[in-house]
Amino acid sequence: MTDEKCSVLEHVDVGGGYRRLKVASPAIVKDVQAGQFVHVRVPQLDESSLRRPFSVFDAGDGVLTLLYKEVGRGTKALGLVKAGDEINILGPLGHGFPSKASGTALLVGGGYGVAPLYLLAKMLLKNSSAKVKLFVGGRTAADILALDEFRQLGIEVFPATNDGSLGEKGLVTVPLDKEIAALSASSAPFEIFACGPDPMLKAVSERAISSGAKGWISMDRHMICGVGACYACIQKTVRGNSRCCIEGPVFAAEDLVWE
Ligand SMILES: Cc1cc2nc3c(=O)[nH]c(=O)nc-3n(C[C@H](O)[C@H](O)[C@H](O)COP(=O)(O)OP(=O)(O)OC[C@H]3O[C@@H](n4cnc5c(N)ncnc54)[C@H](O)[C@@H]3O)c2cc1C
Ligand code: FES
Repeated sequence: MTDEKCSVLEHVDVGGGYRRLKVASPAIVKDVQAGQFVHVRVPQLDESSLRRPFSVFDAGDGVLTLLYKEVGRGTKALGLVKAGDEINILGPLGHGFPSKASGTALLVGGGYGVAPLYLLAKMLLKNSSAKVKLFVGGRTAADILALDEFRQLGIEVFPATNDGSLGEKGLVTVPLDKEIAALSASSAPFEIFACGPDPMLKAVSERAISSGAKGWISMDRHMICGVGACYACIQKTVRGNSRCCIEGPVFAAEDLVWE
């Protein structure tokens, strides 16, 4: 883990209230695994303000890329950062996804939950012979992010929107269930990797467990310290309370206890 002073290389709007931030971060990039996160000190906030956690969207050649949505004070202030500015980033933090899969890897994302899935898709394609497919859900087409980047990796993408403006109409589980049924019918092995809002993660966990597939679930909890000291980010598991910033954010589906 490094607390790195990172120079901002690019910071652009990508639509739907989302921005992509690229920084020079050779120390963090060198060690990062897909599904890990970084803790960003937002320069426009005062020194005592908490850092904000973000998944690593992409990492390579010393460049760290984040994809984030403006939701409040911290992400609004982060939006003011310009190319050439310096920001402090602590990372990589937490436990990420496995970097190999067998059979077909079904990646499932909702909203900014697609952020850790891009580096994951790259890692799975590089380290295993897994076929990778992305299932991504949102309220409207504007919530569906980075489809072109995923397609450029050569993977199939299956969007679903509540209003039907892109892909299937309904929840992301609509196309996911069809794929699980097809794979199960042919006894083809598969694993599921997911990140997004809790109801989606619960639904995906249930499907992984009932279909006998491995499920890897990245939990999003409010964080304060990001390094295991404050116990703000507790998730109930079969082994008791776990800290999302240390034991997670990625957990095995069968380990999670939903309330
Ligand atoms: C491990 C991890 C990875 C994350 N990765 C990303 C990412 O890649 N891209 C991205 O856009 N966001 C990501 N987030 C969420 C991001 O950290 C929060 O949106 C951000 O901290 C909000 O800061 P703020 O000051 O703008 O909002 P605040 O003013 O603190 O809050 C504004 C609103 O956002 C809600 N909120 C704040 N933090 C969270 C949170 N952690 N989860 C859900 N709702 C929250 C608050 O309840 C409130 O309604 C991640 C969170 C975690 C824990
Ligand atoms: S955020 Fe402090 S223990 Fe996880």
